[in-house]
Amino acid sequence: MMKKLPVIILTMILIVTSASVVWGAEVLKVATEAGFMPFEFVDEKTGELLGFDMELIKAIAAELGMEIKIDNISWDGLIPALLNNNYDVAIAGITITEERTQSVNFSTPYFESVLTIVTKNNAADITSLDDLKGKIAAVQISTTGDFEATDLAIEGGLKGISRFDTVTDAMQAVIIGAADVVIVDLPVAQAYLEANPNAPLKHVGPVADNEFYGIALNKKNTELLEKINGALAQLHENGTYDKIYQNWFGAN
Ligand code: ARG
Repeated sequence: MMKKLPVIILTMILIVTSASVVWGAEVLKVATEAGFMPFEFVDEKTGELLGFDMELIKAIAAELGMEIKIDNISWDGLIPALLNNNYDVAIAGITITEERTQSVNFSTPYFESVLTIVTKNNAADITSLDDLKGKIAAVQISTTGDFEATDLAIEGGLKGISRFDTVTDAMQAVIIGAADVVIVDLPVAQAYLEANPNAPLKHVGPVADNEFYGIALNKKNTELLEKINGALAQLHENGTYDKIYQNWFGAN
């Protein structure tokens, strides 16, 4: 009789734990790199993660009846983390590119963006990518800005590239004169200049073809991909997407 007690207790534990999986909402594990205002950034006072992407992914989780947990990790760690199944999705203003599509799946595009050049505000000679001969570009490593700079450098249209872990570090390089330009997503350049009105910098508007951001997932996670695309469509339909868009970018 006594020998059976552990078995009974174990059975009870199993029942209780499996029941909690059914009852408790599933958690959507999200990774981002929160150095990309206005898409994802850390509120200096509260430490909270804010931005367009953060609101969007929270709305998606709510739509799916899921809880959400968002971790702020390094930019070049996002795709490896998905491949390791450490997270369900990554949302970080990630441009859907041919090459990235080899390793991860993307949701339907949720934002249209474009690259710009940030320079010293007295650099009148730079208005397009054709003006970067002999210049040094600062970029966040492994971003579309980096890819653009790399192509330019190969063609001889750029003297050198300084690659940084964060956009802020790349901006800093231009401020201190260690680089001539930053090649970065236009909405992020705009938000940076607004948040740092004393920085001696300007941007020159769109300089390349449009890009589209997508939410990235492990290729094996096709069931969740379907759900996320469904939720995105729903948020477009019920006006939530527009509301979030207006929160961060004003009237559409
Ligand atoms: N859209 C660019 C890319 O995909 C830059 C994204 C950088 N995102 C970030 N959270 N730092 O390459």
